[in-house]
Amino acid sequence: MGKELLLNAVENECIEAVNNKYPDEQKVIVFGEGNADADIALVGEAPGEKEIKYKRPFAGAAGKNLDEFLDILGLKREDIYITNTVKFRPVKINPKTLRLSNRPPEKDEIALCLPFLQRQLDIIKPKIVVTLGNTPLRALTGDNKITIGKCHGTLIEECRYDIFPLYHPASILYNMSLKEVYNKDLLKFKKILKDNG
Ligand code: URA
Repeated sequence: MGKELLLNAVENECIEAVNNKYPDEQKVIVFGEGNADADIALVGEAPGEKEIKYKRPFAGAAGKNLDEFLDILGLKREDIYITNTVKFRPVKINPKTLRLSNRPPEKDEIALCLPFLQRQLDIIKPKIVVTLGNTPLRALTGDNKITIGKCHGTLIEECRYDIFPLYHPASILYNMSLKEVYNKDLLKFKKILKDNG
């Protein structure tokens, strides 16, 4: 079976598992997109409002930063595979506006989605997984104490693929002082890609 078919099968299982867990919520699944043969996979936290509207990871404001990231590396979205740790939008009700707003995913939401992320990566077999922020870094290393502040920009060698932790692009939107750090990390990543052909 080709990779796309395998990915579709895992996506369908994921949809079923999420619907079983939250039968009354009609959660929209944003499973991932891009090149199933990519050497680089990018893993974010969870979809937001725009992502579930367009059913595409990083379709909103954080996606702009992501496009800058790809520009610096001379890559296009089609060259890599992009997904999230949690495949649905974690929401809370904003008490002031009474509208839904994003919140960080909770442990049980991550635990529900992690096996599907792992299976996705097992199918794609990237050489490097770029994790954006603490959520994918902790989920994929299985280390809940690891922090992006300490290990950003440093390659972590795991048996199936290496992990390159980056700050989440959204954190740069909220904290411009991180931009310089982030750009330095990107240059390190560019060098790693160059050294590895
Ligand atoms: N959009 C995504 O798809 N993932 C994130 O982590 C943030 C925004």
